[in-house]
Amino acid sequence: MSDLSFKTLRDTDFQGKVVLVRFDYNVPLSNGEITSDLRIRASLPTLHYLLENGARKIIIISHLGKPKGEYKTELSLGPVARRLEELLNSDNPDDTSHISVEFCPENTGTTVQDAVENLPAHSILLLENLRFNPGEEANSPDFAAELAQATGAEVFVQDGFAVVHRAHASTSAITKHLPASAGLLVENEVDKLSKVLYNPEKPFVIIIGGAKVDDKSPLIERLAPQADRIFVGGKISADGYTTDDEKVDVATTFSTDTKLDVSTDWVKHLIQYLEEHQVKTVLWNGVLGMVEEPEFAAGSQMLAEYLGSHPEITSVICGGDTSGFVENLISTNSDLHFALISTGGGAALEFLSGAALSGLTALTTNYD
Ligand code: 3PG
Repeated sequence: MSDLSFKTLRDTDFQGKVVLVRFDYNVPLSNGEITSDLRIRASLPTLHYLLENGARKIIIISHLGKPKGEYKTELSLGPVARRLEELLNSDNPDDTSHISVEFCPENTGTTVQDAVENLPAHSILLLENLRFNPGEEANSPDFAAELAQATGAEVFVQDGFAVVHRAHASTSAITKHLPASAGLLVENEVDKLSKVLYNPEKPFVIIIGGAKVDDKSPLIERLAPQADRIFVGGKISADGYTTDDEKVDVATTFSTDTKLDVSTDWVKHLIQYLEEHQVKTVLWNGVLGMVEEPEFAAGSQMLAEYLGSHPEITSVICGGDTSGFVENLISTNSDLHFALISTGGGAALEFLSGAALSGLTALTTNYD
């Protein structure tokens, strides 16, 4: 079993406190527009919890993209602050309880100190992209100390599940400066992924797609012994993946000669297995075709619609493309339900490969 024994929000007293929260707001952008707000929406439960439990001021930190320690206008978190404020208030149009999200164009120094000081009680401040500062990716103790000091935070919450596989200042060193706990997203992802990793309800099926088999190998190696069957589709199958393992069923039929999508017959054959064996747990990582082109999305759509309308199967979806694809389907069909649509691409893959993730380990060590 997992030996992750970090504190959760319920173990922490937030009443009257200044709280520093790390989210992963590394959202996809196109021409400055946010094209998927899954990760922003995933942060709302923790923010509501903190507000309802008396947090005096909430300061959010995140990264966006890979600016490599330099300021890049197009990677500013400003647009995220605006979207976050819209989402936080969308269920709650009553003006008297409006939650405001302010944006600070720095992440350390007196600009941050002033912004925190002037922040009204029970409001939220989002600091600028952490990766504009080289100290973030260097896991610099000085940068972590500056974050704690400039914000005047009394407690730290780690809720950026998608970045906990990185040993950065905001995932690792910061926990040496502030008492830390995991947010609701991290808790939920770790809980659901741990169940798949350590104790999946059987029969257990793994479905692998996507493009690069090397990225999936550690996961397959770690989970294959528990799995009853492993289906392989996507570009990996189109590229001719083979294995001697009798448990593995590789797609051999495709929708067209270009092999850009698996055939729906193969997906039906996969679904038939799930039904005949009354499969209880499915882990799906990697789309089955080139889903960004609607004509090559039929295989993935058929599978997602089947899994999403069979709640008796615990379906765990992971990988950036797969989670994005499934989220997109849900936006037009809210009846689909999944046990987990992971926000973590690399983080979920590493977790499921059995690796220790720096940002989670850091939560289990006491701060000095
Ligand atoms: C992700 O999108 O996988 C996370 O935000 C981590 O980003 P990174 O791969 O740039 O560290």
